[in-house]
Amino acid sequence: MAEYSVTPWEVKGDLDYDKLVRDFGTSYIDDELRTRIKNHTGELHFMLRRNVFFSHRDLGWILDRFEHGENFFLYTGRGPSGNTHLGHLLPWIFTQYLQEKFGAELYFQITDDEKFLHDRKLSRKQVTEFTHENILDIIALGFDPKKTFVFSDTDYIKTLYPISIDIAKHITFSTAKSVFGFKNSSNIGMIFFPALQAATCFLPSILQKKNIPCLIPAAIDQDDYWRGIARDIAPKLGYYKPAQIHSKFLPSLQKGGKMSASSPETAIFTTDELEIAEKKIKNAFTGGRDTLKEHRKYGGNPDIDSAFQYLKMLIEEDDKKLSEIEQEYRSGNLLSGELKEIAAEKVKTFLKEHQRKRMQAEKIFDKFILRD
Ligand code: TRP
Repeated sequence: MAEYSVTPWEVKGDLDYDKLVRDFGTSYIDDELRTRIKNHTGELHFMLRRNVFFSHRDLGWILDRFEHGENFFLYTGRGPSGNTHLGHLLPWIFTQYLQEKFGAELYFQITDDEKFLHDRKLSRKQVTEFTHENILDIIALGFDPKKTFVFSDTDYIKTLYPISIDIAKHITFSTAKSVFGFKNSSNIGMIFFPALQAATCFLPSILQKKNIPCLIPAAIDQDDYWRGIARDIAPKLGYYKPAQIHSKFLPSLQKGGKMSASSPETAIFTTDELEIAEKKIKNAFTGGRDTLKEHRKYGGNPDIDSAFQYLKMLIEEDDKKLSEIEQEYRSGNLLSGELKEIAAEKVKTFLKEHQRKRMQAEKIFDKFILRD
């Protein structure tokens, strides 16, 4: 079996999500939970129907609180290490759905400190530029400006710092090492950083001077922060433990791993020209057979096909259409080139619209920014 690893700073190899659920000790989202969510949302997001959001912690408890009239807030974030690609948008699109359906406030943390500290090649100037660019993508997804609070760590530090030191005081170096794998060669900024990412779990409770339940929608690689730090600390500081809802990763366009900003051909960026995006999809890894004859005879494998996974996880909301495509592909009637054509068209339509909203985002930018 291929080696794989999932940490906040590295995701590589063939992902085994069942193993992650076992190792991290999370729970699967089951039919009962899906029905409960549907009772409130009216419709289930396709990412829930298709198990893209598949794992959680305390989601039932969040719904209990909600049903007792206690609103929760959403917390998610972005490390501004580069331009936004479609894999980043996946949990954010879902977060927007949760905000809309539950009327929840959203606290969106941009960890510019983390990315500056982590990547020795990134300058503070670059990270600040990516912060701005990434926030445009967030705004373009249609979050409610009255209920959405975006902040970067360096900008909002005056408020974040006292919370972070309350947290940091309870975390030993030995815990931080075992949770995050820090070494003697790690810089001391990184060693303190987890306290900042955990701080946002309690920030709204502090700002609003009452305990507010927190639900974190994020890809499962962020789990170390919640399992290893935030959930442990919460009762010690008198807060609720933050709940989580975890997604899978949008796969790389090439074989293995997730999309990565550090290898541009594996990812479609929100600012890619439409023709470039199309080209990337046309060059993507496929589940098709080597020859036309074999493909017609044995059919393709959508489970490992990047273009199909894009449709399924991100871009084709219509279950009926998706299952038609899947059946046609499995049966060999649909060729990989044809499948890619379908995906490319959908992606281009999505990108065009996103880029339009992204331009408008500049004008309403300030409405979303939380300041001390
Ligand atoms: N560390 C995250 C990243 O590198 C950014 C982040 C901060 C985040 N807070 C979060 C992601 C909460 C998800 C949920 O991208």
